[in-house]
Amino acid sequence: MKRVAILISGGGSNMLALVRDMAGDHPARPVLVASNDPAATGLEKAAALGIPVAAIDHRAFGRDREAFEAALAEKIDAASPDILCLAGFMRILTPGFIRRYEGRMLNIHPSLLPKYPGLHTHARALAAGDTEAGCAVHEVTAELDAGPILGQARLPVLPGDTEAALAARVLTLEHRLYPKVLRRFATGDRTPVLLD
Ligand code: GAR
Repeated sequence: MKRVAILISGGGSNMLALVRDMAGDHPARPVLVASNDPAATGLEKAAALGIPVAAIDHRAFGRDREAFEAALAEKIDAASPDILCLAGFMRILTPGFIRRYEGRMLNIHPSLLPKYPGLHTHARALAAGDTEAGCAVHEVTAELDAGPILGQARLPVLPGDTEAALAARVLTLEHRLYPKVLRRFATGDRTPVLLD
């Protein structure tokens, strides 16, 4: 059985989708949900499901990203995860942290990568007049949002779509995609999951 730690910064809806899927014949189980924000509401949701939680407030470390990450890594390593899932984790990670978990760290991103790495993905897709949007799960490597794609799901942009409407529809799609990718990844299979 693979052990999975999940990093969040907010509501944790992707984290919940992963956790709910990790039951029965699933090859993995959640061992930790950690956040850089002690107020992240996803922490309570995970705790209510009996999953160990941890909060390392990045603000306590000022500009010292490495000290923040060292404290976070200590919590993560204490849970001995085989796989680390970033699920709405909104801190940029240093190369040192990425190297430590390279090959076993996944991220979900709300765009059809390689389009729109970084923030404000839906606004950028709308401004560009894209007819399709979606989400991607990728392996985390040193370059932001650019690691090998492990899964992708797309949907049409509708006439009159707003950033909020598009974000909500993509989020629902994320909840379908990420669990499928984690299931496959946990068996050692890196073939991309493609959902339409
Ligand atoms: C999701 O849309 C996720 O793709 C995005 O944040 C949201 C988190 O929602 N992640 C990023 O933008 C990463 N750069 P959640 O907390 O409900 O899962």
